[in-house]
Amino acid sequence: MRNGKWKARLDSQVPEDVSRTIDTLPEWFGIAEANAEYVEAARSKETWTVRDGGGTVRGVALVDYHFDRAADLFFIAVEREFRSSGIGAALVEAVAEHCRERGVRLFQVKTLGASHPDEGYAATRKFYEALDFIPLEETDLWGEQSPCLIMVRVL
Ligand SMILES: CC(C)(COP(=O)(O)OP(=O)(O)OC[C@H]1O[C@@H](n2cnc3c(N)ncnc32)[C@H](O)[C@@H]1OP(=O)(O)O)[C@@H](O)C(=O)NCCC(=O)NCCS
Repeated sequence: MRNGKWKARLDSQVPEDVSRTIDTLPEWFGIAEANAEYVEAARSKETWTVRDGGGTVRGVALVDYHFDRAADLFFIAVEREFRSSGIGAALVEAVAEHCRERGVRLFQVKTLGASHPDEGYAATRKFYEALDFIPLEETDLWGEQSPCLIMVRVL
């Protein structure tokens, strides 16, 4: 895994960068209402970024804590041109390290499940699996058309 090239850090809120990043990834972010919710969430949630040498945000993760010992990767996206260069892994590992230091033991993410044929999300699931997230359950939390796969990583 090409980890180490990019440095992820805890950052201030970057809703404009979330909006710009989403716009480069229409295959994953095709529902306008959901996109507006992500941008709104970016105004308040814990924010991790990877910035390039010029300071431009190229990847963002938003994290929730519903309970003391569990974290939720609410949102993650890497700008299209920068995908598959280790930015996503840098974000997840930085959050995981931060969580471990705080006594957080479980890290969950929800994504589109394999019973939906979408190829983009098949790649997304491979990414999470490569980062040690284990498929836990597929639910209809998002309705029957959008099977929701809950994945969990033990920290
Ligand atoms: C999913 C996403 C955040 C991953 O970030 P990334 O920077 O592209 O991923 P990385 O380069 O850090 O990949 C880390 C590892 O994941 C795996 N991986 C990543 N993309 C993969 C793909 N398309 N197919 C198979 N495995 C993949 C690989 O094992 C990779 O390590 P390697 O390149 O050394 O083999 C990013 O591609 C993205 O924004 N995708 C679109 C939006 C999205 O799916 N968001 C999450 C919605 S739930």
